[in-house]
Amino acid sequence: MRIDVLTLFPEMFPPIFTSIIKRAAESGRVEINIRDIREFTKDRHRTADEPPFGGGRGMILKPEPVFLGVDRIREEAGSKGVVLLLCPQGERFNQAIARELAAEDHLILICGHYEGVDERIREYLADREISIGDYVLTGGEIPAMAVMDAVVRLLPGVLDGEVVESESFEGGLLDYPQYTRPREFRGYEVPEVLLSGNHGEIEKWRKREALRRTFEKRPDLHPEIKLKNDEPEFLKNLGNERGNRNGLD
Ligand SMILES: C[S@@+](CC[C@H](N)C(=O)[O-])C[C@H]1O[C@@H](n2cnc3c(N)ncnc32)[C@H](O)[C@@H]1O
Repeated sequence: MRIDVLTLFPEMFPPIFTSIIKRAAESGRVEINIRDIREFTKDRHRTADEPPFGGGRGMILKPEPVFLGVDRIREEAGSKGVVLLLCPQGERFNQAIARELAAEDHLILICGHYEGVDERIREYLADREISIGDYVLTGGEIPAMAVMDAVVRLLPGVLDGEVVESESFEGGLLDYPQYTRPREFRGYEVPEVLLSGNHGEIEKWRKREALRRTFEKRPDLHPEIKLKNDEPEFLKNLGNERGNRNGLD
């Protein structure tokens, strides 16, 4: 996969090139190019933003350098790419969208800053608008990092497939609780079943704990959950225990 990011602040990005993302880049599974939008300006002041027409606060990202940047990237890459505008008004990013994006060959991410971007970027250039949540950040750089991180770790060969499959939101469940050494810490103990060596029982416990957590923390995820064996009964009892059955039937 190739990812190009258009930003006014390229210096914000280096931290993403560590850990798993760094390894993915080094092994050639992803190529990430951070591009300064000012590289595509034409005046000697490298003007990339200006005040809004009609008056009002802040500075608006101009259309020309962003369109030109996308044209240039497309030429270089020899592909149209999927253009993503990071934007608080966009569709709310989640694991399902990360999966869709991970199936693409080329993503072009546009980071707004200050008061936002000229509407023509949204209307005529962006294929998708992505929000990372209902709050407003200063710029699209942190959202771009979040999207890249979530997407790159799903690329084939970046992580062990089993690890990805058992994670939160895959299959509609939150992840089960995890413990490591020591067995006892300040009097807090690791659940006995995890020390038993009985893999069948461990699997069963993990699935139940994932169900319990999802039921308690995120009942809105329930339509995706496929229940097996005695799990429907387990959930029913959980609901009865709490006198609250508005969750996972
Ligand atoms: C201060 S925000 C502009 C907010 C805009 N005036 C509005 O109210 O919708 C500047 C830039 O940060 C990015 N941004 C801020 N919050 C975001 C979010 N929740 N998700 C994705 N991008 C965000 C966008 O690229 C946006 O253009």
